[in-house]
Amino acid sequence: MRILFVASEAAPLIKTGGLADVSGALPSALRKIGIDCRVLLPGYPVVMYKLESTRQVARFDQFLDAEGKPLAARLLLCGISGSDTPIYVLDAPAVFARAGGPYQDSDGIDYPDNAHRFALLSQVAAILAGAASPIDWQPDILHCNDWQTGLAPAYLRLSGNQTPIVMTVHNLAYQGIFPPKTLTHLNLPVSSFSIEGTEYYGNLSFLKAGLYYANHITTVSPTYALEIQQPHLGMGMQGLLASRQHQLSGILNGIDTDEWNPAADRHLRCEFNARALAGKKQCKHKLQEELGLEPLANAPLFGIIARMAHQKGLDLVLAIADGIIDRGGQIAMLGTGEKSIEIAVRALVARHPGKVAALIGYNEGLSHRIEAGSDIFLMPSLFEPCGLNQMYSLRYGSVPIVHATGGLRDTVEDGVTGFVFHQPTPHALWLAVERALDLYPQKPAWKKLVQTGMNRDFSWNKSALAYQALYQSLLPLEA
Ligand code: ADP
Ligand code: GLC
Repeated sequence: MRILFVASEAAPLIKTGGLADVSGALPSALRKIGIDCRVLLPGYPVVMYKLESTRQVARFDQFLDAEGKPLAARLLLCGISGSDTPIYVLDAPAVFARAGGPYQDSDGIDYPDNAHRFALLSQVAAILAGAASPIDWQPDILHCNDWQTGLAPAYLRLSGNQTPIVMTVHNLAYQGIFPPKTLTHLNLPVSSFSIEGTEYYGNLSFLKAGLYYANHITTVSPTYALEIQQPHLGMGMQGLLASRQHQLSGILNGIDTDEWNPAADRHLRCEFNARALAGKKQCKHKLQEELGLEPLANAPLFGIIARMAHQKGLDLVLAIADGIIDRGGQIAMLGTGEKSIEIAVRALVARHPGKVAALIGYNEGLSHRIEAGSDIFLMPSLFEPCGLNQMYSLRYGSVPIVHATGGLRDTVEDGVTGFVFHQPTPHALWLAVERALDLYPQKPAWKKLVQTGMNRDFSWNKSALAYQALYQSLLPLEA
């Protein structure tokens, strides 16, 4: 079975969040069970720089840029060390060779031509899955991820091709919405701008298009698959999603257990596992040292790693942080994003030197060291399609405190592997924190909680088998 997996980011080449972890790990998990999965990615500068073997396999002369000028684009077939997943890279410098991140410039402003940039990625995905593909590898299924690839199903279907398409929603909050006039510059017929097509409340939505034209929609946890059919978390798409409930399912993400392995982690200078926990104490001490926290072995250390976005519920953390410090706790935070949250976090650090530390920025190594060195992990997300950090925390013996939503609800068991609270309010979070603080000094009970979490299996294999069964169900029956 051949799968073309298209995404706007994939670790280790380019990452802003969990989508990259999934796009890095799922294709190789699929390959391990015998599926020929290949990835299509935009050729951002960091991607071009990290590629190891590259071979040009196609040139595209038909595309125009946002100003209507011809745009040079070619397709490279690439590999990276440590992975056997073939990667197709769309090298189109006019739209992808930018100094900032994949979606925004270095000031955090969206690129003005994002519709063009990701329509190009989507068009190339559709071409590779279609009958007139310029390459000699034809997928049986096109698997799209999030809004950046949402027009691929539209291009493919509107060209008359029936190759099955899976559209995975990693986060319904990002919908790729653009003014209606954008459509005319994207090689899409004006007739597609309707409720039965690309239109969404008077605008063009890349995600809506994907959800409409795909054969099957998945999201990254079973609970989120139900939540998005309701007004509260459906973000305007609930009607469409509920009408497609028989072609909508949730497959829980896995985690890369090689990359996230406390017994052999290249980012740590200590190691541990569920049976030998002494190394975790060392990790905590080293983390306190690295972040300038007081070297107190018995102070419960709370870790937080998150994009600083409204979704992550950091307001709740800020509201109770002083309480944690009053009870003798410490906090280590890592994240970047909305300026207002960053400012509030800096103020918290200034109030509690030696007790609260925060690194505002992106730091892969520190994210591993916080998982390893903290005792408790806070993840009070208002909504969470899946969430990976709570699974990394379980594996690293950092007991998660989570809001009962989406994938958090599906992965953390209250009182068995962590603490789960039900209302996204500071009070409810605080009650869960108090339960954790009360249990923390009871060493045998705490150790049991830690070890139970560490022994949970979140490896990709189970999810890969679920995707395999889904792909199989979409393929025409052999004659
Ligand atoms: P989301 O995709 O919504 O951001 P997830 O929990 O699924 O949430 O995945 C987030 C991923 O991004 C994790 O691998 C996490 O460690 C990583 N991450 C988030 N912020 C940072 C940061 N500032 N530095 C390093 N890694 C980060
Ligand atoms: C999104 C979601 C997160 C999920 C990740 C990978 O960014 O916010 O919950 O884990 O995608 O699927």
